[in-house]
Amino acid sequence: MYRIKTIAFLVIVFTMILAACQPAVPATKASEGPIGKASCAPNCTYKDMTLCYPQLGAESDWRTANTASFKETADQLGVKLVFSDAQQKQENQISAMRSCIQQGVSVIALPPVVETGWDAVLQEAKDANIPVIIVDRSVSADKSMYVSHIGSDMVLEGKKAGEEMNKLLPNGGNVLEISGTTGSGAAVGRAKGFRETLNKNITILDSQTGNFNPTEAKPVAEAFLKKYEGKIDGFFIHNDGMAQAVVEAMKAAGVKPGDIKMVSVDGTRGGFQMMIDGWVQADVECNPLLGPQVMEMALKLMNGEKIEAEVLTNETTYYPDKAAELLPTRKY
Ligand code: AHR
Repeated sequence: MYRIKTIAFLVIVFTMILAACQPAVPATKASEGPIGKASCAPNCTYKDMTLCYPQLGAESDWRTANTASFKETADQLGVKLVFSDAQQKQENQISAMRSCIQQGVSVIALPPVVETGWDAVLQEAKDANIPVIIVDRSVSADKSMYVSHIGSDMVLEGKKAGEEMNKLLPNGGNVLEISGTTGSGAAVGRAKGFRETLNKNITILDSQTGNFNPTEAKPVAEAFLKKYEGKIDGFFIHNDGMAQAVVEAMKAAGVKPGDIKMVSVDGTRGGFQMMIDGWVQADVECNPLLGPQVMEMALKLMNGEKIEAEVLTNETTYYPDKAAELLPTRKY
């Protein structure tokens, strides 16, 4: 009996030592691990892919171009695209993602309307082994909750805008800001970068959201022009659509092109026209044509290949001097 007990004790101790010596199982890091690897791997083609794209809305020409980029690329490559329009509502994006998870799509590409509030649905996608690529704006969720982010460096865009404003107002002055959607990575990043770069002799008199939407930005611009009449040297506007609304408000208020310097973001055709007409002095590029890059990454995931954890778009700044020459070449 004593012998049996001793043997049993030794077996337990030995098993415990063995377990302790095992290398720790690394947490699946999506960019290295098999998350999303499909049964067709390593020979999956675009025709095997169902890509979910719960678009956040249709608030701007940028967004329209972004949607077109996904739809056209999917058509060209033979990817099945599950597209929806959340009309600026996070809850709609989350429902669309849940429906995609239920359908068992290959990959979800999420352009998040705001930064926070994604943890639960990202966990659901992860549990279902469906990789999520964050597209365009950022999320605040831990990086382990999604496989990659493809989009612009919004803080850098804000910094570029600040540098342009410094050049336009070398003797300082007062500026007003009309920002994008409150809580969105694009608005938060641009506001941050702008403030980090702006010279000390430039004061931000006021900042209000226009939700990246010209219709919402127009009354904000009208109120600003009334309230700060004669005191405004510059406008920093978070996108071209809202800048077009500011131009309309300035025209109605009798302001002439160039009286108030304006820096905008996106580089849409509308932005180029405003530069040609003398209203905008610098347009910081934000590129919406992300469909091809996202689908290429999605295919790599399906085939179990490594991917980059962050892919930032290379962007430039456009100026009035080349605007007329470049306008016919603009794709959005
Ligand atoms: O997230 C990108 C921003 O969203 C673009 O600057 C804006 O035009 C769009 O609505």
